[in-house]
Amino acid sequence: MNKGFFITFEGADGCGKTTQIELLNKYLQENGKETLLTREPGAKGLGVKLREILLNYDGEVSPNCESFLFLADRAQHVDCIIKPALDSGKIILCDRHTDSTVAYQGYGRGLDIDRITSLNIIATSGLKPDLTIVFDIDVETSMERVGKTKDRMESAGMEFFNKVRQGYLEIAKKEPNRVKVINSSDTIENIHKQVLELVNKLWQV
Ligand code: TYD
Repeated sequence: MNKGFFITFEGADGCGKTTQIELLNKYLQENGKETLLTREPGAKGLGVKLREILLNYDGEVSPNCESFLFLADRAQHVDCIIKPALDSGKIILCDRHTDSTVAYQGYGRGLDIDRITSLNIIATSGLKPDLTIVFDIDVETSMERVGKTKDRMESAGMEFFNKVRQGYLEIAKKEPNRVKVINSSDTIENIHKQVLELVNKLWQV
């Protein structure tokens, strides 16, 4: 049994989740909770090397290879960072996790969703987040936020990001208890309030 809590933050590039994860981390720490703020891909060590390839390699990367690299990063992250921190009772705040692979490599790149779901289970040894928050925003706004300097993933184009967005909404429909969607075009303060409402419900169950 986990002693801690595992919360993941998801959404398309430029959705504002990184600002929100930092605000939540600050709030929890100010309220005496022990947290671990982490991310995928590339939390630390080997993951940082994989992140460099995933975001900056400028040669051909097949969708299948791309998915295995994200999954390899995830396996290392779960085994070496997330599980030990959960076992020590921490609240894990993770910027992207399994749903990113379903949304980006599944819905976005067109790989089989059931296959990605099975591979995610292998990579995480079946560990599931207690709560996943999807920050939903229209693609035009999110691409404006990303700006002109784009990494390999961010350069995938509007059509790709529309599919990613729809993918996240599908995931939320399939798992409504775990996955909650927040409209990310609201103000930072209002979104933070909604995040707190969702997170505070976790302690009550
Ligand atoms: P990052 O700079 O961390 O983006 P963000 O700040 O938006 O989270 O880059 C991670 C990129 O990798 C992002 O474009 C999403 C993508 N990604 C996948 O395609 N599949 C995955 O499984 C994960 C974890 C990320």
